[in-house]
Amino acid sequence: MANYQWYPGHMTKAKRMMQEDIKLIDLVIELVDARVPFSSRNPDIDELGKNKSRIILLNKSDLADTEKNRLWMSHFASKGFHVLEINAKAGAGMKAIQGVVQEACKEKIERDRRRGILNRPVRAMVVGIPNVGKSTFINSYAKRACTRTGNKPGVTKGKQWIRLNKKLELLDTPGILWPKFEDQTVGLHLAMIGSINDELVHIDELAYELVKFLCGEYPGALESRYGITIPDKQDAYEIIRAVCVSRKCYLKGEEPDIMKASSMIVDDFRNGRIGKITLEIPGE
Ligand code: G4P
Repeated sequence: MANYQWYPGHMTKAKRMMQEDIKLIDLVIELVDARVPFSSRNPDIDELGKNKSRIILLNKSDLADTEKNRLWMSHFASKGFHVLEINAKAGAGMKAIQGVVQEACKEKIERDRRRGILNRPVRAMVVGIPNVGKSTFINSYAKRACTRTGNKPGVTKGKQWIRLNKKLELLDTPGILWPKFEDQTVGLHLAMIGSINDELVHIDELAYELVKFLCGEYPGALESRYGITIPDKQDAYEIIRAVCVSRKCYLKGEEPDIMKASSMIVDDFRNGRIGKITLEIPGE
């Protein structure tokens, strides 16, 4: 798992690379994590990618709430993006991409045609914050690709393009966007999905916040996962203690091992074992 920490230096470098690479392409394919579509976006891409066709892929949709995936799809569509939900790991939803690419780039394709340029492939670049699944997506998409093309005249040296088909070429290195920690919730949500180094967060606090959220938004989810009963208005800390008992997480002397149960809860959430859960809804 890619853990990261961002310093101003990282951000400047990432931005500079993005500015260079974006000149080479027609289409920005932006991956967001379907569980946290707000926190896993950096809206600066809107400025960087202006004048480019845009697609948003809600990745890891297998881990997210199906109903909320729909809400996010309509949200992004209403903002003018072309949008699809996918599971890059299993390859689900990938077939629809080609059609959406053509649709997103139809003005460019039409412009080319008017200028007598026929069959020039759309050039695309995959972007997203670390850990959203960019490499998984490129690898999975490129599996069906025939060739990786070398340098091309007039194109920056060292850039590799993956020719996916006659109509689409992908820059084989993804663009890394920096997360935007504009408020505490963003940091918290990125920590919950495992995109912030666990050494930088307190796992017991993370579990506490997660349990609180789950009790409010996904009642029953913890009960069925851990075989516990949660009385009304139960404090999250007490729930974690109940998980200690149910999963026999004890320190010496039968003292509940809160840290162990906390890690277990967070890990179960990250891997979808508590259910398909989305932490954010549009408009929050
Ligand atoms: P990045 O390039 O954007 O940094 O992300 P990367 O592809 O490395 O993916 C980060 C993690 O997310 C990987 O897990 C990858 O398998 C997982 N992943 C990517 N797409 C999906 C998806 O659609 N659904 C699910 N469930 N997982 C996805 P990992 O823990 O680093 O490795 P592994 O456990 O897969 O070996």
